[in-house]
Amino acid sequence: MVNVCFVCLGNICRSPTAEGIMNTLIQDAKLQDRITTDSAGTSAFHEGEPPDPRSQKAAAERGYILNSRARAFRKSDIQSFDYIVAMDTANRDYILQMCSSESQKEKLHLLRDFDANSPSGSSVPDPYYGGTQGFSNVIDICKRSCEGLLENIRTQKLHG
Ligand code: 4NP
Repeated sequence: MVNVCFVCLGNICRSPTAEGIMNTLIQDAKLQDRITTDSAGTSAFHEGEPPDPRSQKAAAERGYILNSRARAFRKSDIQSFDYIVAMDTANRDYILQMCSSESQKEKLHLLRDFDANSPSGSSVPDPYYGGTQGFSNVIDICKRSCEGLLENIRTQKLHG
C-alpha cells in the first residue's frame, strides 16, 4: 500500500481539495487497493471541521466529493506516510524542520512540482481570504498536479 498525506495550513481548503481529487483519480484508475490518501494542517485552527463550504461547492461543481475532517499534522505522520505533499513552501518548510533523516526528507514534496507545466517550487495559492475564483483555481491546479502525482506513484512505487 502507498500512503499519501496532503498538507496545507488549515486542512479545510487546499489539502482536502487535493485529497478529494486524488481519490477520484485513484478510483478511476482502479487503484483503491494500492493507494490510500489522507490530509492534515500545519495548524490546528480548524480541528474536526469539514472542508470549507466554498471548497466543497467548487469541488462539487466539477464532480469531486470532499469528505475529510481537519486535523493537525503530527511528527509521527512523517513515518506513517510514503508521500507527504505540501501545498506551499511554508507548509513544506514547517514539515522539513520536523524531519530527522534524509530518508524522511525525501518523502516530502510540493504538490505543484508534480505538474510539469508549473515552475519548480510553485505553491498552491491560499484561497481562504479571497473570492470564488480562487477556489476554482485551486481545483485546476490540484487536478493537473494530482495527475502527475499518480503517474509518479505508478512509476516509482507500483512499477508501471
Ligand atoms: P487552507 O486554507 O490552508 O488551504 O486550509 C486556510 C484555511 C484557514 C486559514 C488559512 C488558510 N485560517 O487562517 O484560518
